[in-house]
Amino acid sequence: MSDFSFEKHNDRFNTNSVKWDFIKQNNLPQNTLPLWVADMDFPTVPEVISGLTDLAKTGVWGYSFPSDKYYQAVIDWQKKRHNWIINKEWLVITPGVVPAINIAIKTFSEKGDAILIQEPVYHPFRMQIETLARKTISCDLAEHHTNYEINFNQFEQTIINNKIKLYILCSPHNPVGRVWTKKELLQLGDICLKHDVLIIADEIHHDLIMPDYQHHVLAGLKPDFAEITITCTAPSKTFNLAGLSISNIIISNQKLREKFEHKSSQSCWPHPSPFSLRATEIALNKGDTWLNELLIHIKKQYERLARTIEEKSLPFSLSPLQGTYLAWLDCREISLDPSKLDQIFLEQAGLWFNNGSMFGKSGQGFMRINLACATELFDQVLERLVTVSNNIC
Ligand SMILES: Cc1ncc(COP(=O)(O)O)c(C=O)c1O
Repeated sequence: MSDFSFEKHNDRFNTNSVKWDFIKQNNLPQNTLPLWVADMDFPTVPEVISGLTDLAKTGVWGYSFPSDKYYQAVIDWQKKRHNWIINKEWLVITPGVVPAINIAIKTFSEKGDAILIQEPVYHPFRMQIETLARKTISCDLAEHHTNYEINFNQFEQTIINNKIKLYILCSPHNPVGRVWTKKELLQLGDICLKHDVLIIADEIHHDLIMPDYQHHVLAGLKPDFAEITITCTAPSKTFNLAGLSISNIIISNQKLREKFEHKSSQSCWPHPSPFSLRATEIALNKGDTWLNELLIHIKKQYERLARTIEEKSLPFSLSPLQGTYLAWLDCREISLDPSKLDQIFLEQAGLWFNNGSMFGKSGQGFMRINLACATELFDQVLERLVTVSNNIC
């Protein structure tokens, strides 16, 4: 039994939770189980809770700025967890990774430019590109029996054919759960160097790595890669702090950083909240044990799901979970039709997953399941999966 609260369900109804309170807002039955949006049901690191309680008690929460201790916490974290040595000057704080991607697109491309992504991938990439009147070019990941890879010839040819100058990498890859190997990242980075492509590396899930896998920060692999990369990190996924709206964007190339900062200054973003600064600093300094236990829990949840599918001969298969807390469920044996899958999972089973089609056409026939819930809630999920599968078959 873990020291932390990963087994018992934490009731989040009536907390204005997007994950839970949207059930009512969307007129779904109250017993719907939400395993969609990527936040976790667990209370964060205990030291963060007590630190923020102390801060709340002061009653004074004026305009704030990151202290040296804040920067040091980020620097220490990157060194100890990722063996990546960074400088304070490289850090730019933004209210989120998606806002940072938005700024990077505005800074480093013009209207009408083609921007490269690899679907199925986190859908706001395409949304941001298209909202900003750029053109999305996807070099879809290659899939063989739910294992995903990059077709490097196709990747390079897509860059050449579309005169790509900006590429958004998702590492680890949401939703398919791949942790890119060093070899793969070196190949990607070298192709981008060869063709003068700037890289927005969304590494928000980089702390959520399963045992036996290792994340490599792209910009840490070669000094030349650091020159062309905007690395997006945040404590939000790692420590379940998404509502605090803070992320650390790391840009070692001074020219790129100054351009990025100039563009973000036009957005009139507020000062970071004293709560988000304090929470991040404490989590990075004190959160290792909590995170290590969380990863064990996520792995167990994934294994239970895999075992249930196998033992009950359910008509699904799973992509290997190398990173993130999101399982990628292949439902193509049942249907490729997204609305049919929603009807089965959401309407019949009361299981609210993300429909794979939202991550691009190549996500059709898949569902994304958020594993970051309590053991006892997952018991019910598995029961419902078995029941609904028996009813289809
Ligand atoms: C790959 C990826 N990037 C960014 C985000 C969201 O980042 P933020 O909430 O900091 O904008 C998510 C959330 O799930 C994500 O999976």
